[in-house]
Amino acid sequence: MRRRKIADRIHWLGAVDWDRRLFDALIPLPDGTSYNAYLVEGSERTALLDTVDPSMEPVLLAQLEATTRVDYVVAHHAEQDHSGAIPMVLGRYPEAKVVCTPKAKGMLVEHLGLADDRFHVAEDGQELSLGDKTLKLIHAPWVHWPETMVSYLEPDGILFSCDFFGSHLATSELYATDEARVYEAAKRYYAEIMMPFRKPIERNLARLGSLAIRTIAPSHGPIYGRPAFILDAYRDWASGEPKNLVALPYVSMHGSTKKMVDALVAALVERGVGVQQIDLAGADLGKLAMALVDAATIVIGTPTVLGGPHPAAAYAAFLANAVRPKARFLSIVGSYGWGGKVVEALGALVPSLKVELLGPVLTRGLPTERDVAALVELASLIARRHEELCLRPIS
Ligand code: FEO
Repeated sequence: MRRRKIADRIHWLGAVDWDRRLFDALIPLPDGTSYNAYLVEGSERTALLDTVDPSMEPVLLAQLEATTRVDYVVAHHAEQDHSGAIPMVLGRYPEAKVVCTPKAKGMLVEHLGLADDRFHVAEDGQELSLGDKTLKLIHAPWVHWPETMVSYLEPDGILFSCDFFGSHLATSELYATDEARVYEAAKRYYAEIMMPFRKPIERNLARLGSLAIRTIAPSHGPIYGRPAFILDAYRDWASGEPKNLVALPYVSMHGSTKKMVDALVAALVERGVGVQQIDLAGADLGKLAMALVDAATIVIGTPTVLGGPHPAAAYAAFLANAVRPKARFLSIVGSYGWGGKVVEALGALVPSLKVELLGPVLTRGLPTERDVAALVELASLIARRHEELCLRPIS
C-alpha cells in the first residue's frame, strides 16, 4: 500500500498485515493487524513516527522512496512491531536521531543494537519543533511497556498514541468508519494487551484530558476521526466497576461438567445475570479476555484430571490471573471421578485476583438433583452479590 494523506504534510505510512494470525506467539489475531507509521513534514524538519514490524521493512522502504531527509524517528514504544525497522531507517537517513524516553533508549540499545550517538532522549512534556508544526512528547508508561510515550501534534490536534487505543484489525479503511466493527477489535486488543495496566491507563487518560484532540492516530488499526468514540470506550473498560456478567470458561471431557455448566447458566439467566460461556476446548482465548473486561464473577468449569484441574482450565486461570481483571467473585464447578484437589490447585493459580470465593460445586460423575440444586443456589448467591453492588448491565 502507498502512503496515504491524513492532513497537510502528514501521511500514514506502514503496512497492513492481513495474514498474521498470532502475535507474541500467544495472542490470536482473527482479523490480522497493521503497523502504522506516520510521516510529519514541518516547514523546517521532518519526523517519522514509529516504523513497522521487521517483516514489513520493504513496504516502508518503498513508501519512503521520495523522502530525501528524515531528521527525527520518534520511537513511541520499543517493541519490535514498531521499532523493528528503525535500524533500516537510520541506515537510509544518517542524519536522523531517534527520539524516545530514557527507558526506551536502553531498550532500543539492548533489543536493536542502536548506537548511543543516534539518540535524542525526550523528557516528559518536551516539545520537538519541526518548524510550523510541533510535537509535544508525553510520557505514558504502561501503554504498553514501561517506556512508552505518546505525542501530540500542534496545530493539527493529532494524538499519535502507538499501542494506546490500537486495534488488531487489517482493513483498507484508513479511518474507523464502521465503529461497531472497530469497537469489537479495539476491545479485544484492550483485553489482550492493555487490561493488566488499568490504573496507569486511567492516569494516562486523565493527562490527555487537557489536550484538544481532533484525531487519534494509533499504530495498530484504523485512525479515529471521532476521538470520543475510543476515549469513552477506554474510560468504560479501564474503570474499576464490573458489570452484571459472569465469565464462564469451561472444559468437559465426558459431558458431566457441561451438564453442570448448562444448569448454572440457565439459573443465572433466569435471575437476570448475563453470561459469557466459553468452551476452552479449541477456544479463541481472546473471547475469554474480552469477557473478563466486564465480568463481576468468574466461574471456571473443569473436570478433575490426575487430581487437579484440566490443563485447559489451568491455562485459563493462569491467563485470568495475568490480565488482572476487575472481577469481584470466583467460583469453580465440575465433575470428578474419584477425588482430587481442583479448588486448591486453581486457587493457587490466581493469587492476583482480589475475589471472594463463592461455592464451589463439585460432583462425583453425573450431576444429581442435589447437585443441580446446589448450582441453582450458587446462581442465586451470584445474583444477590451482583445486586448488592448495583452493577451496570452489560451493553
Ligand atoms: Fe504494538 Fe507493544 O507493540
